[in-house]
Formats: sequence, structure tokens, C-alpha cells
Amino acid sequence: MKILAIESSCDETAAAVVEDGRTVLSNIVASQVEEHKLYGGVVPEIASRRHAEAIVGVVDEAIKAADCTLDDIDAIAVTYAPGLIGALLVGVNFAKGLSLATGKPLIPTHHLRSHIAANYISHKELKPPFLCLVVSGGHSHIVEVLSYTDMRVIGRTRDDAAGEAFDKAARAMGIPYPGGVELDKIAENGDDAAFPMPHPHVDGSPYDFSFSGLKTAVINLIHNKQQKGEEIPVADVCASYRKAVVGCLTDNFLKAAEDLGYTTLVTAGGVSANSLLRRELERLCKGKYSLYMPEKSLCGDNGAMVGSQSYYEYLDGNIAKSDLNAVATLPIDKRGF
Ligand code: KG4
Ligand code: ZN
Repeated sequence: MKILAIESSCDETAAAVVEDGRTVLSNIVASQVEEHKLYGGVVPEIASRRHAEAIVGVVDEAIKAADCTLDDIDAIAVTYAPGLIGALLVGVNFAKGLSLATGKPLIPTHHLRSHIAANYISHKELKPPFLCLVVSGGHSHIVEVLSYTDMRVIGRTRDDAAGEAFDKAARAMGIPYPGGVELDKIAENGDDAAFPMPHPHVDGSPYDFSFSGLKTAVINLIHNKQQKGEEIPVADVCASYRKAVVGCLTDNFLKAAEDLGYTTLVTAGGVSANSLLRRELERLCKGKYSLYMPEKSLCGDNGAMVGSQSYYEYLDGNIAKSDLNAVATLPIDKRGF
């Protein structure tokens, strides 16, 4: 079964053709990041407008790159939640129109479930159940993936998402948006013991995260140095901060795995491209857990992951009706259509 998948939840307009959930025939991503960089973050209205401009070309390119025509496509999938509402609506409306015009079924797909599904592309043998650390720009969750379409969140952030925590700290150091990527690179050359950082815990909820205190600590450190006219040792600050954020993620994730008896651990979302997170999980899981992480090129937003998850949604009968709408906020274990 060939699915044409469309993703427009944030600042990438993406489309892909994926066969039977696992084989990527094409994967086209048009990023708007250079434009949002000028403003230090994603400007929702600009994102919507750029999606509207790009979507026809991106979808057309995805179909051609897969060596297909629309006739070869069996279903159309689209990210309908969660994300920037105006951005989601561009993809949802486009997909609805295409589905109506072609008579092909429309599969509404949850963005975070798609991030998890990136692993089904990278690791053909991977099947639920497993425990997944979902870390993106907007979410930090520990999720029990009980089946391809049945999930339970057992840990979540109480404030900032991990990606957001990286981006905000980076911004305070003058590193351009999306700072998490650059901060990771700079940290590779820093001393991670240079600045002791707090290790926040959420009382009574051992799998929940809280990054706001950590973010405030690093921002105060930077402001303090600026006020004294001292040079900021950027690489050391990045390395110390990255180590602290990654420590929170790995501690809670491994505790949950141990408590709940999972032996297969998976990561998903943009932050799972983080070099230290990947190294630390490799080290901590060695000989104890089977660890799966998406290849770096599939950690960020893309259409291929939507094409993968939507196949399993289709098998589960999750087909949209003509009144499908976009939903800005929707838990991973809820159905919004
Ligand atoms: O999953 P994603 O592409 O979009 C959302 O669904 O939010 O995640 C984007 C986030 C951004 O905050 C970005 O800074 C972060 O992922 N990110 C990283 C790295 N690569 C992307 N954070 C830390 N280290 C990285 N290497
Ligand atoms: Zn994402």
C-alpha cells in the first residue's frame, strides 16, 4: 500500500510516499528555518503563508521522486495535530481537497506518533511494545507504546520541552534559532564539568521532567557574567547545560524502563538527534536494553514518518470523514477526529 503523506505542523512543509509503513519511496522537506531565524523563533503567521506557497510543489515533487503518479497512491495521510493551528490547517485542507478529488481515503495522523514511527523506517525489525522517550521542540514525554496505535503517557514535562529548553538557553548565548542544534555542536568542544547545574526532580512524579529551573540557572549564569563584563565561555556553558538536560532525560527514562520492566527502548523527536543523548543512551543501555533511535535525518519533522505511522492508523480503521479539522493540542493517546 502506497501512502502520500503530508506534514505542515510547524516550520517544515514536507511530503513523502511510503510503502507499507516501512519503505520510503520519496521524502521531500522544504524548511523555512532561515526565515524564522531572523525573528529568533517560528512566527506562526509566516509559517502558514510559507506552507501555502510551498505545499503544491512539495507534494508534486514527492510523487515524482517516488516515480509515481497520483493513480499509484492508495491513500493520503496528513498531520492534523498537534502543532501551530494555522500551519496544520494548510496541510489538512490540502489533503482533504486531494482526497475529495481523487476519492482516496484520508488518514489523520498525530505528529508525535509519527515521530515515534520514524523508527519503523530506520529499524525494520522494530515492533511495539516498547518504551519511548519523545523529545521535540514542543513535547517531552515518556510513552508506553503498547501497540502501533495504543499509547500511554507515563511521564511529561511540567514546563518547557527539552528542545525548547535547549533553544532558549542557546538564544541567551546569542546562538541563532533553532539553537538546540548549534548548542549541541558547540558543546562537543566544551568542559561539561565547568559549571555545576541543578538536577531538577518533580516530587512524587519520578518520570516527569522540569526544565525551567535549569534554563533559569543557565540564563542567570550568562547574565551574571555579562554584568561583570566577563567573557562567556560559551563552549563550557553549552557542555555543562547539555549534560544536565540529558541527565534528566536519561535518568527518568531508564528509571521508568526498570520500574515497568521494558527491555526495548526507543527515542523520537528532534532532540533525539542530540549527540550526547545518543552517546549516553548507547552507554547506559549496553548489555541491558535493546536501544533504537531514528537515523539523524529522520529525527526532525518530515513526511516519511507520517507515511509510516499512517499505515498503521489505516490498518486500525482510523480514516477521516469530510469534516476533519486541525487540532492545536491533542494528547498522543487521544483521537481528535
Ligand atoms: O521534533 P522537532 O523537529 O519539531 C517539533 O515537533 O517540535 O524538534 C525540534 C527541536 C528544536 O527545539 C531543536 O532545537 C531540537 O529539536 N533539536 C536539537 C538537536 N536537533 C534538533 N536539540 C538538541 N540537540 C540537537 N542535536
Ligand atoms: Zn516534530
